Amino acid sequence: MTEAPTTTDSVYQTEALIAEDIDAYLDVHQHKTMLRFITCGSVDDGKSTLIGRLLYDSKMIFEDQLAALEADSKRVGTQGQEIDFALLVDGLAAEREQGITIDVAYRFFSTEKRKFIVADTPGHEQYTRNMVTGASTADLAVILIDARKGVLTQTRRHSFLAHLIGIRHIVLAVNKMDLVEYSQARFDEIVAEYRAFADSIGIAAFTAMPISGFKGDNITAPSENTPWYTGPKYAGISLIAHLETVEVNATADQAKPFRMPVQWVNRPNLDFRGFSGLIASGSVKPGDAVRVLPSGKTSTISRIVTMPGKDATDGDLPQAVAGQSVTLCFADEIDCSRGDVIAMADAPPQAADQFEASVVWMADEALIPGRAYWLKLGTQLVSATVQAPKYVVNVNTMEHLAAKTLELNAIGVAEVSTDKPVVFESYEANRTLGGFILIDKITNATVAAGMIHFSLRRAQNVHWQALDITREAHAGMKNQQPAVLWFTGLSGSGKSTIANLVEKKLHRMNRHTFLLDGDNVRHGLNKDLGFTETDRIENIRRVGEVARLMIDAGLIVITAFISPFRAEREMVRAMMPDGEFLEVFIDTPLAEAEARDVKGLYKKARAGALKNFTGIDSPYEAPYAPEVRIDTTKMTPEQAADMIVERLLGW
Ligand code: ADX
Repeated sequence: MTEAPTTTDSVYQTEALIAEDIDAYLDVHQHKTMLRFITCGSVDDGKSTLIGRLLYDSKMIFEDQLAALEADSKRVGTQGQEIDFALLVDGLAAEREQGITIDVAYRFFSTEKRKFIVADTPGHEQYTRNMVTGASTADLAVILIDARKGVLTQTRRHSFLAHLIGIRHIVLAVNKMDLVEYSQARFDEIVAEYRAFADSIGIAAFTAMPISGFKGDNITAPSENTPWYTGPKYAGISLIAHLETVEVNATADQAKPFRMPVQWVNRPNLDFRGFSGLIASGSVKPGDAVRVLPSGKTSTISRIVTMPGKDATDGDLPQAVAGQSVTLCFADEIDCSRGDVIAMADAPPQAADQFEASVVWMADEALIPGRAYWLKLGTQLVSATVQAPKYVVNVNTMEHLAAKTLELNAIGVAEVSTDKPVVFESYEANRTLGGFILIDKITNATVAAGMIHFSLRRAQNVHWQALDITREAHAGMKNQQPAVLWFTGLSGSGKSTIANLVEKKLHRMNRHTFLLDGDNVRHGLNKDLGFTETDRIENIRRVGEVARLMIDAGLIVITAFISPFRAEREMVRAMMPDGEFLEVFIDTPLAEAEARDVKGLYKKARAGALKNFTGIDSPYEAPYAPEVRIDTTKMTPEQAADMIVERLLGW
């Protein structure tokens, strides 16, 4: 070790400052940037020794002390610069609440220049999810290599995961140099081998360092034992110096276009309406033109507020940047709510409902393709399904393998569909708007982390165009409240007959209506669909979309489809504004419908000449709580139609 002035010296100065003037110390401390990093390697590689060395040589800050610092910085409203509330942290917190053990140890320390959080995760393959969790917010990864062993399978696995999770800075720490006589040849050999691998998986650059965690070489100061090592020039040739200098994500994010996911609408009194959130990227100042996604509405920033509700504009900021939590006010009264994204008007992110993504499965129970999970992306929460993966990656060999599902710790590439468009960017461009977690709807457990590659539908690349003639305007001109009367029931139950009568009655009352009938729609829009489960689901999805457009146009829409599955009827209900979907169950027992057999189809089905016939060899799931239930054995179609019209018009 050399005598050069080092970070270690500054530790003693820091201690003196803490002793003399704790307030001054806290002030200095809370304005330091924070670097989050992860160490990868096994115990044998000397990971614990290295971490111990970093903590010992720099000055460990105990957890409660950091909590106090963070609480303090929150009070003065600057915490946003230092604490990264990235998406996957939410997932982490959620997992902790559920008591699932995650073996990631977070340790805190600081030097005069920076604060550090190091996530220490187990290295084995069965801990892939732990590593992904630890890496999800990291700025940098230290990949440890035992100089005697060189690049191992686990080196490759850890590097692949670090790259996948979007860590921008990789340090290849060739450790235990003391055990190879500080050999430059050995170091160069390892670096060359690693470079070839790094190239093959797309890691563009890394910083290699010969170190000894045990002896302290090149940890806090340049080592006399490696005079041949020139290191990253700017950094003063030591691991700590490098960690102190490397650009943190928060700084890099400031150069990107402005985006802020809205966490909540801040409305302390009637005179104030602001939108609060953590700025994900870029910067913003009063006067900037912004666009609210997904609505597409535009306005101008009037204020950046730090003390919402106060009369004065004291505390207003002239500018705010990525990493800060702020409240923004608009010059115009436009709609904006939790889950929306406020972005630079002329460079907004896209909205889409289908993506290709890398998915890391984190739950014991495997992925069920097609099942609905909650997908949380930024502050957006939507229902989503994942298709069977295109392939999974063998994390030891980087091979792509075919797979039907994703098991615990598996990493795959799959298509994800959401029930409504989400505002997103590729994970590569923006971790906050490109990373998501999947949550089991029943257990609320976080089951996967995902990274969006790109959206799958071209049309969705066009953001939703806000229209000036609103649905209210359409409905207003027709002088009516739009709604969908969604009939459901067996074939031959009487849906079409009653739906027809209902439409006639409404028409006579000058209501603007439209009837969508199964048999008719299947001749046109849906003539490509049959009666398998998949086709019926698609049939209902399309009809739901058409009905939605029609109620937006101000119409009263009547649909008459068997729509045998509860899940799809609920899906359509969820597509409509509250109160505009009325489920009308035409409750005719199978025996009765079969006895009537108006179209002779039951006879055919019983004879085996018609496959997948509802009620015979394909299920019908009756509604649990329809808005209207019609027992056709107890009333005439005329009476049924009156009852439905009464319910619709609220008599
Ligand atoms: S749904 O199940 O997808 O909602 P939809 O209402 O569009 O069905 O179409 C049902 C109509 O298609 C029936 O009234 C009947 O005339 C005809 N049909 C033909 N084959 C079948 C079948 N296998 N099951 C049910 N209906 C059938």
